[in-house]
Amino acid sequence: MARTRRPLIAGNWKMNGLRADALALAGELASGMKQAGWNDRELLICPPATLLAAVAEAVKGSGVFVGGQDCHAKASGAHTGDLSAEMLRDAGASHVIVGHSERRTDHRETDAVVRAKAEAAWRAGILPVVCIGETLAEREAGRTLGVLEAQLSGSVPAGATAAKLVVAYEPVWAIGTGKTPTTAEVAAAHAHIRKVLGSLMADAGAVRLLYGGSVKGSNAVELLAAGDVDGALVGGASLKADEFLAIAKAA
Ligand code: PGA
Repeated sequence: MARTRRPLIAGNWKMNGLRADALALAGELASGMKQAGWNDRELLICPPATLLAAVAEAVKGSGVFVGGQDCHAKASGAHTGDLSAEMLRDAGASHVIVGHSERRTDHRETDAVVRAKAEAAWRAGILPVVCIGETLAEREAGRTLGVLEAQLSGSVPAGATAAKLVVAYEPVWAIGTGKTPTTAEVAAAHAHIRKVLGSLMADAGAVRLLYGGSVKGSNAVELLAAGDVDGALVGGASLKADEFLAIAKAA
């Protein structure tokens, strides 16, 4: 069953990277991917939008996908500073992260906003990676599964299919902290996510569910082995080629 879901290792560079370093990193990842000859897993990197086109060019032909970190819901218009999914695609993106907890917190994005952004990705012909996850307070209050259910119901658009959706489970308290849930906790969350998706779409069994939050080379094997985990969304460790490739190898 797991083999029908091709693992996806996604790197979210966040607001990091100036041209020279970013292109060097992209080049290392492209040659690492080529050398490994992986055709049973996918690698995705999401650089800052300023570097999207240059990074897309740098990894061309390597099989490494390039994505945006966010998009606006509209295709164009008077939205100063924003970027549409169409623009990301035009710059070389095949994917876009939507609803990352930093967007939900820093920009007060609601589930409805995230859903509109996922729909925008479909409209533009790129694949949304919809992020959900509970805060520490929510986990400590025993509300994790309920929070995930509410976020999924609110953020996943009607008409979703496994080919058009990737979901990333990222406990907010695990992002950038070095803390991770136990594999049992990850497996429980992912099983619940797949169950909830089952009520929202026909082929939930085939949707790829990524785990994100302090994934690194040294814990990737363990985290990726948890039930219903089909890859990782990696922040800090995606900024180092050897770490990111070690995580990809673990998949
Ligand atoms: P981290 O970030 O790997 O640095 O914890 C993960 C993310 O925010 O996607």
